[in-house]
Amino acid sequence: MYKHFLSTLFLVAVASFQSLGQSYTMDIDLRKPGAPVNDTQYGIFFEDINFAADGGLYAELVKNRSFEYPDDALQGWKAFGKVTVLDDGPFDRNPHYVRLSDPGHPHKWTGLENEGFFGIGIKEGESYRFSVWARVPDGGTSELRAELVNPSSMSETHTLCRGKLEISGKEWKKYELVLKSDSTLDKAVLRLFLEDKRVTTDLEHVSLFPVDTWKGHQNGLRKDLAQALADLHPGIFRFPGGCIVEGTDLATRYNWKNTVGIVENRPLNENRWEYTFTYRFYPDYYQSGGLGFFEFFQLSEEIGSEPLPILSCGLACQFQNDDESAHVPVDDLQPYIQDAIDLVEFANGPVTSEWGRLRAEMGHPEPFNLKYIGIGNEQWGSLYTERLEPFVKAIRAACPGIRIVGSSGPGSEGEQFDYLWPEMRRIGVDLVDEHFYRPYDWFLSQGARYDNYDRKGPKVFAGEYACHARGAKWNHAYASLLEAAFMTGIERNADVVHMATYAPLFAHVEGWQWRPDLIWYDNLRSFRTVSWHVQELYGRFKGKNVLPLKMDGANVTGAEGQGGLFASAVQDSPRIYIKVANTSDEPREVSLNFTGLKKKDVVRAVEGIRLDCSDRMADNTLDAPHKVEPLGFPFKGEGRMLEASVPPLSFSVFIMTVQ
Ligand code: AHR
Repeated sequence: MYKHFLSTLFLVAVASFQSLGQSYTMDIDLRKPGAPVNDTQYGIFFEDINFAADGGLYAELVKNRSFEYPDDALQGWKAFGKVTVLDDGPFDRNPHYVRLSDPGHPHKWTGLENEGFFGIGIKEGESYRFSVWARVPDGGTSELRAELVNPSSMSETHTLCRGKLEISGKEWKKYELVLKSDSTLDKAVLRLFLEDKRVTTDLEHVSLFPVDTWKGHQNGLRKDLAQALADLHPGIFRFPGGCIVEGTDLATRYNWKNTVGIVENRPLNENRWEYTFTYRFYPDYYQSGGLGFFEFFQLSEEIGSEPLPILSCGLACQFQNDDESAHVPVDDLQPYIQDAIDLVEFANGPVTSEWGRLRAEMGHPEPFNLKYIGIGNEQWGSLYTERLEPFVKAIRAACPGIRIVGSSGPGSEGEQFDYLWPEMRRIGVDLVDEHFYRPYDWFLSQGARYDNYDRKGPKVFAGEYACHARGAKWNHAYASLLEAAFMTGIERNADVVHMATYAPLFAHVEGWQWRPDLIWYDNLRSFRTVSWHVQELYGRFKGKNVLPLKMDGANVTGAEGQGGLFASAVQDSPRIYIKVANTSDEPREVSLNFTGLKKKDVVRAVEGIRLDCSDRMADNTLDAPHKVEPLGFPFKGEGRMLEASVPPLSFSVFIMTVQ
């Protein structure tokens, strides 16, 4: 009885000690650096979902610029006067154009107005390049007026700025002028007037870009959004998705060959996210292909990422197609396999090769040095493996050195996953793509996920992941904290997880189908979410080698008794970066105990950087883009043992140097 009383007393004492802020000792072994952290460790996943391409990163401001939207060639346009749509234009894969003719009265006008993507965002003092292909079919000259207009202005004039182009001759030619805006507006429209009403004039591929795009490219990208990618220092860049790779049917799969060459002749494609969710339905969502594979390779190079294209394996989306006839029969796969081989040639081939020549003509004679290719997105079952196999054989033969990524299906575990992993080993892919959009408890339970993975098999590409809280499936700090916690396990297991990309990347506030996402924007502004900051911290403090970090001999994975702590350590000699996520509501006092130091050496604290996620549901917004951001904090001390305070619900990076 007395013994029982004593042990109860002891337990109560332990419990109250813990609630007061128990001390935890993490042992970091500096004897020898562990596995190298891969250059590709953290990266980005781009898919044209949430108006990520047209209306997002791709800086084109005109919607349906080639009059090809299939339900209505004038979707996105308002026509006035006499406008007809014809289909024998100069670009065979986008054959439609408009004919503007005499409106029939000297006081009437013929012309068109484009609404842009949720309006056209223009900024005071910025210049916009308007371009159009045009001709005067009966010969002679004509004049076209282009205006940026504020249709809801109360001032005397709606016109914000204007310019005129003289169109001459029967041949199609490209015309350009620069419009300079003296005001800022998120929902302007582009208005075109046939200035000399009697001269019939044809227009095709009507385009408007900011002059100031990312790196100044004319077929360019929105600068703030591209910068938000560059600032992540992504090591790997997955493109173009996602389900969009597969298509709802094969006809609408992502075909890279349709996204290269002159932009005017890249055929329009349906976007599956137009109709995937009827509760967020966008009947005007198409892919112009303007942000295509050349632009992807170019951007990868500019932001220092390794490009990772994911291509169709001949299966249309398996979620949407039960019938096997929806897919390419295995015996007919050759054109799909050739597409993959040709893509490698487009990226890496000599300028004398068919596809290498096209790359050179597009302005990049040097190879892009592509090293990876993924075959299939979220595929499953033998339907997938029997298609993947011939791809792998053919790519190995034609493109030695290219590393191939296979899929483990749409789930983070379960029947399909369990079937596919051994199959990926058998087929001999280099990396296996795992996807997990999972709730809080999953992320909390997966800190040790990769600790016991097979070290000899294919490597892991955590190719799509984000914490999707039940009942709170939107961006918020607590979900981001759990992503940070989970990522300590990716970092610790850099020898097996070679790449990880959060998904999706982008979302337009007026055009999203899926959240959470990493970066949000409207037509003028953008903001980086707390999850973005988590990714940024991992990218910035990536280190070169993993360091073993243990608590009572065990990895720090949020396991029972570890006080909700997740931790990992890396070294970029002489620097050491220790990442600690405290997922509990209690502060934690952590002693960092360094072993294996040379006799003369000590560890000196340099600084700390912390993301405070204690306001669990908070995140940044367009109006408050800097609400939750990492902040520096003093972290001091020198010796073989350093003391670190870790507030509740926070993610910290402790920076130290060995000297
Ligand atoms: O990221 C959004 C979608 O999630 C991707 O298209 C798909 O691969 C996954 O199911």
